[in-house]
This record gives sequence, C-alpha cells and structure tokens, in this order.
Amino acid sequence: MSWWDDAVGYEIYIRSFADGNGDGVGDFIGATSRLEHLAWLGIDIVWVTPFYPSPQADFGYDVADYTGVDPQFGTMADFEAFAARVHDLGMRVMIDLVPNHTSSQHPWFRQALADPEGPYRDYFLFRSPGPDGGPPNNWVSHFGGPAWTLDEASGEYYCHLFLPDQPDLNWANEAVRAEFDRILAFWIDQGVDGFRIDVAHSLTKHVTFADNPQLVPVGPESTPGQAFAAFEHRHDLYQPETRDVYRRWKALPGADAVLLLGELYVKDPAVSASYLDDGGLDLCLFFALNRRPWNPAAFVDELRAWSESHPHGYAWTISSHDENRPVTRFGGGRAGHQRALALWTGLAMLPGVPFLYQGEELGLEDGYVAPDHVQDPVGKEAYEEGRDPCRTPMPWEPGRHCGFTSADQAWLIAGERDDHETVTVQRADPDSPLQAYRRLLALRRGLTEVRRGPAVWQPALPGVAHFEIGEIGVIVNLTDSAVNLPTPTARVLYSSGDLTDPGRTGVSVPARTGLVYAKK
Ligand code: BGC
Repeated sequence: MSWWDDAVGYEIYIRSFADGNGDGVGDFIGATSRLEHLAWLGIDIVWVTPFYPSPQADFGYDVADYTGVDPQFGTMADFEAFAARVHDLGMRVMIDLVPNHTSSQHPWFRQALADPEGPYRDYFLFRSPGPDGGPPNNWVSHFGGPAWTLDEASGEYYCHLFLPDQPDLNWANEAVRAEFDRILAFWIDQGVDGFRIDVAHSLTKHVTFADNPQLVPVGPESTPGQAFAAFEHRHDLYQPETRDVYRRWKALPGADAVLLLGELYVKDPAVSASYLDDGGLDLCLFFALNRRPWNPAAFVDELRAWSESHPHGYAWTISSHDENRPVTRFGGGRAGHQRALALWTGLAMLPGVPFLYQGEELGLEDGYVAPDHVQDPVGKEAYEEGRDPCRTPMPWEPGRHCGFTSADQAWLIAGERDDHETVTVQRADPDSPLQAYRRLLALRRGLTEVRRGPAVWQPALPGVAHFEIGEIGVIVNLTDSAVNLPTPTARVLYSSGDLTDPGRTGVSVPARTGLVYAKK
C-alpha cells in the first residue's frame, strides 16, 4: 500500500492558474491563494508544471537550473509557502522533472559548447556529421525537422528530440546520473512528494545511434507530428536502460515514499506496464485517449485493454496542457461535456489515480486565442490545434480576466469566459459541472476499499464500458442511445446524466452517461 494508491491528482499549469503579483503571469503566490479550491474539490495530489529558471522557449520544459525558481513564478520561499499550504490542506505536492533535455542556456550546455574537450561536452550527445556531411542519423525532432543541430565552432552536431533550445542529455554518462541524484535529493529534502517525469520513455539512446526504420514517406506537407510518426522509434526512444535510471532513483534515500509518475506517450499498454514495478516507476500516465477525436467504440476498447494490462491501473487522464480540451475534442457544447464527464466517471472508478487538468472540472472548452496572440508557435506547428487554447487562464470568478490577474492583460490574451464558466458561479450551482465532478470524487473516496479490487470487465455493446469491482459496477455509455442496466436489483450511486428513476433500476443508462451502481 502506498499513499498514492487512492489518490486523485490535479495538474496546475502554473503560468495560467492564478497570478498573485499582477504581472499577467501565474505564479506561486497566486496558486497558493487558490489551493482551497482543490481541497474542496477532493484532490490529493497537486502537480505543478515546470517553474524552474528557463528562457521559456518551451514554456519551462527547457530548464536552465533544476534547483531554482524562475523569478516570474516567485522565489524559493514562495515555493516553500505553496508546498506548506498544500500539505496543511492534506494534499501532496508533485513537481515536474525534465531529465531528457536541458535548456541550451543551462550552464552545462554553455560549457559543453565553450570547451569541447571539457567534462560537460559528454553531458550531451555530440556526434560527427554523417557521411554526406549532414546530421549523424535520420532521427527527427517532435517539434519538426532533424533532431540534430550543427555546432559550427566544432563541426559536430548535437541531438535534441525537441527544440534546438532543448539539447538532450547523455544518460550513458555516470556524471549526468549523479547530477540527477542530487537534484532529486534536493527536492525530496524540500518536502516534495512526487515527480512527474517528462518524456519518461526517452532519456537513454541506443548505443549505435543507428537510423530509425522509416515506416511511411515524409513529404514537405507533412506536419511535425506526422513526420515523427513516420518512423519506428527503435533507437531514440524506449531503450531498456532507461528503467535502470528509475530503479536507481527509487533507491535514493527517502524516495521509496515518493511517487515516480512517468509521462510516456506510448500506444501499447504492455510498453507502459513494463516501466512499472521492476521498471522503477510507480505509475504511468495514460495517454491512449488524448489527442484523439471522439470514437466511442475505439475509446472503450482502449480503456479496457489498458485497464486489463496492469492490476493497479494508471494515472488516468484525458486532458493536459498539451492538447485540446476534451469537451472540445469530443464535439463541444452540451454533448461534448456529457461525453467528457461520462468518460471521466469510468476513469475515476478504475483502480489507479485519475488526474484532472485545471479547468476540466468546470467543463471548459478550449479558450479562444486569436492568430495575432499565439504564444506557442512551435506547438501550433506540432500539435493539431496548437497548445495555446488549452492553456488560457483559469476562470475563477466573474469580472475582469475572471479573477486570474489584476494586470491589464494576461500573458496569453484570450477570449473572456462566461460567468457560468467560473469557479464561484459553479460552486453555487448544484447542477454545475464542478459540482458533478466533486460528487463523483466524494463517492470515489467512500468506495476506497471496494475500488482496490481488480476491475472485471463485462460484455457490453460497442461504445459502452461495463466493469465490476467487488460490489460495485460501472457503466460508461459513450453512445448516443440509452442502454439497459444489467441487473434489476442494482442501486444507483452516481449518474453523470439525468436518470428518469434515480433510485432502484429498471431504468436505463441515458446516452453519454457514466453511472456507478451497487450490485445489491
Ligand atoms: C511536455 C510538453 C513539452 C515536452 C518537451 C512534454 O511531455 O508535456 O509540454 O513540450 O514534453 O519537454
């Protein structure tokens, strides 16, 4: 039993959560002042996205100092006050760790460039040009173009699976491993309860640095995402030695009680499961339904396959700072909200740790960002609709900038939200999305003992998920038609949709509804 076994997580995208000092950018002072919302909602783990000193080329996922706080988010004392308040409210703090790459402004990389013979050169992946004088191999960056940039001074290329501003670290170098031992120890000492490990399926590379097999051609019109998917990532990702790193971290003093949560973008649940248990990680994020258009039958099949691949489940999520919000992805409006909540009802009842992304509990659709105000041009290229629309400021209360900032403008200029999208208005409305998510989390908490058992999946129509755990059953009807409950004696404990008879059954599960019942 670990403390996270029954937890519910929540992602704070710090730039857009709450601005405490009135400069238009979210920060620790602001976030601390809003933590009560999360405790009230029923959250246990507060994950905060990167706040380290950074040139912000990738909004903090380009780290220039792993043990500092970027002044735009506050000071170390502000972080400590934030962590203390999280703990006072009975929750835990999880921070983002970005070990695959640094910022090109990190002193390690600057010294690696300045002194090719010095010790920092081997912290990164410098290689001679290929036979044609171009990049050493055919690896491509997630964000477009080759995964190699020429260091003109030395004539060597360095590897970056993301931006050229994000050079990949050399995890075959023991000195890099030792640096991260110190970084983890620093934050564990600060009282951090967990790490969300960025691109956790990366880190080590195949020793040969051989070309990746190409599956389909890449043309000038291919998006970065399509170009990346055109290759089998046999040599740049998924190397078994990466698990040694996680096992090593797990063995650090105090790390046993610290949650290691991997962000692994993988399609095959068996691959994710192989990073758990002996693979060193405690949990992996579930991404099978992210960035995917609405497809009830396929969604249910994925959920079942993942659920059955590991008895303790995953960190279940359908939303993050990297993709369109689920309500939008699932069709928008009332139907989009119903689908997102129905699906999340299933995620919340499975063994594992469900995660909400800020604003998901409000049933938010994507924010509107005018073309002139785009802040993440890389994301716009690499992800279908860009990442700005899911990163617009959190709406707290009616009024200017919905209480996010007192500045004239927020860092990301977006269309104003309606009053009914704000926390305060939804808190006062028993029929709001916020209240529906809160009721669901309260029910989950009451069913802890039951929920620990394995989920036993039942036969159901396409687009309908049905599983039982001990004495409870869960039906997630993602289709647009009502379906019948399986047993006439079932008692409804929660329904995300309107039931004609909310007590005993004999009723059917309405379209786009998640329902939890007691078998007797
Ligand atoms: C993060 C992204 C980031 C990328 C590179 C992802 O997993 O969630 O926001 O751009 O890693 O660090």
